[in-house]
Amino acid sequence: MAGNWKMYKTPAETTAFFERFRPLVERSEHCEVVICPPFTGLAAAVQAAAGTRIRIGAQNLFWAREGAYTGEVSAPMIRAAGCSHVIIGHSERRQYFGETDESVLKKTVSALEAGLTPIVCVGERLEEREAGKTEAVLAGQFRGGIAGLGPQQFAAIVMAYEPVWAIGTGKTATPEIAADAHRAIRGEVRAKFGAGAAAAVRILYGGSVKPDNVKNLMAQPEIDGVLVGGASLDPASFATIVNF
Ligand code: PGA
Repeated sequence: MAGNWKMYKTPAETTAFFERFRPLVERSEHCEVVICPPFTGLAAAVQAAAGTRIRIGAQNLFWAREGAYTGEVSAPMIRAAGCSHVIIGHSERRQYFGETDESVLKKTVSALEAGLTPIVCVGERLEEREAGKTEAVLAGQFRGGIAGLGPQQFAAIVMAYEPVWAIGTGKTATPEIAADAHRAIRGEVRAKFGAGAAAAVRILYGGSVKPDNVKNLMAQPEIDGVLVGGASLDPASFATIVNF
């Protein structure tokens, strides 16, 4: 159960979130919990989550280890900050910051080399779904990106299916639509990495997940977890999702 805070919360707001969130998930041993604040909130989050099962992740990285790349942050730096995860290829990064399937692959490799677990996002836009191209788009994003990983590398990643039309819109995919897409992604994984990898890979669903729809989404065997934006900003609401 992963929370993507996007560009929300100062370090002080991060600390305040954890003070309320920690007791609410203290007994939640049934799943992994990851929260991904902005870079400036990572230190506060790592400190506030110390001694708990809550893991902290970043929302992006640059693939070089270090160098003259003004404004960028590398995988080893994120690891050294106490993070265990990083989101890669979120649709907002694809849309506004020029992320491509190729850069997603490079970033994923550098995250793995630094010992981070990448949460790699794929998903179709509304016009692509309406044109009946959903499966082709998902296949294209997979084949042009993380299909380039080695089998051992692939075994260490988490995937997330996030239909762009469902992100921040309140329009969640129905559990059946989400499960169909997850099956299509698993089909790609099977073709490239085999049946074992397809069965083992965890695929999160993301896009307007809320306390009142998480149960039906998670009832689909294809859906292994959720990646939550807006509803992860409030401690009570994200705790309800974690503990559904
Ligand atoms: P949302 O965002 O839950 O606010 O729709 C999901 C995401 O972009 O990861």
